[in-house]
Amino acid sequence: MKTTEIFKSKKAKWLMFGRDEAKPDKIIDTNQYMIVTENRALLMDPGGIELFAPMLAAVLRHASVEHVTDVFASHQDPDIISSIGLWDQALPDAVLHSPWLWESFIRHFGMKNIQYNAIPDEGGHIDLGGYRVELVPAHYLHSSGNFNIYDPHAKILMSGDIGAALEDTDAPIFVDNFEEHIPKMKGFHERWMPSNSAKNDWVSRVRALDIDFMAPQHGRIFTGENVGKFLDWFEALDVGKVQKK
Ligand SMILES: [Fe+2]
Ligand SMILES: [Fe+2]
Repeated sequence: MKTTEIFKSKKAKWLMFGRDEAKPDKIIDTNQYMIVTENRALLMDPGGIELFAPMLAAVLRHASVEHVTDVFASHQDPDIISSIGLWDQALPDAVLHSPWLWESFIRHFGMKNIQYNAIPDEGGHIDLGGYRVELVPAHYLHSSGNFNIYDPHAKILMSGDIGAALEDTDAPIFVDNFEEHIPKMKGFHERWMPSNSAKNDWVSRVRALDIDFMAPQHGRIFTGENVGKFLDWFEALDVGKVQKK
């Protein structure tokens, strides 16, 4: 499991865990993220059950188990949060922030200790001891109850499956040429994103944010002008289509 620091200031750092060379072939490669502040850490979309051991080892290099007070799951998918039953043993005092819509489903992964903070549809924020990140609604993109995290200090949008690309485990961390990146994203977004109106609603919401990095759960991170290029491309894309093979 490779760890990349994508932002660092006196207040916080953002880490990305991914590009796992030990990943079994038929499992989609995922990016996990963590914000570490002085006293608290937030683990975002911690991944599948098969990733738990390398993820725990990677996390513990940057924060103790007591330091990781908060976990976020953007939606219910197994590649996002099927590891929660194991994190539940490792982080018994943590809080999981996740859509209210998915509480009775995510609990099937096993949650005896971790508390579930049910995020209302309109979103809200997570306060990490004075360091505040926003929960931005991203419903139907692709899950019917779904959120992004926006950090106004780091100017990072963690966008979950939005902006996802299907890549090899040795792919670069950042998008360099946007045009060349499109074929890795197009089929995924056409098939997995079910609603043009939800998509356009999200694009207008996200355009109002000041974003330096857009960090998806699969593929590469968008920086600088590539964030705007992604929003323009996604807005124009017709989604909710089953492709012919
Ligand atoms: Fe998903
Ligand atoms: Fe995903």
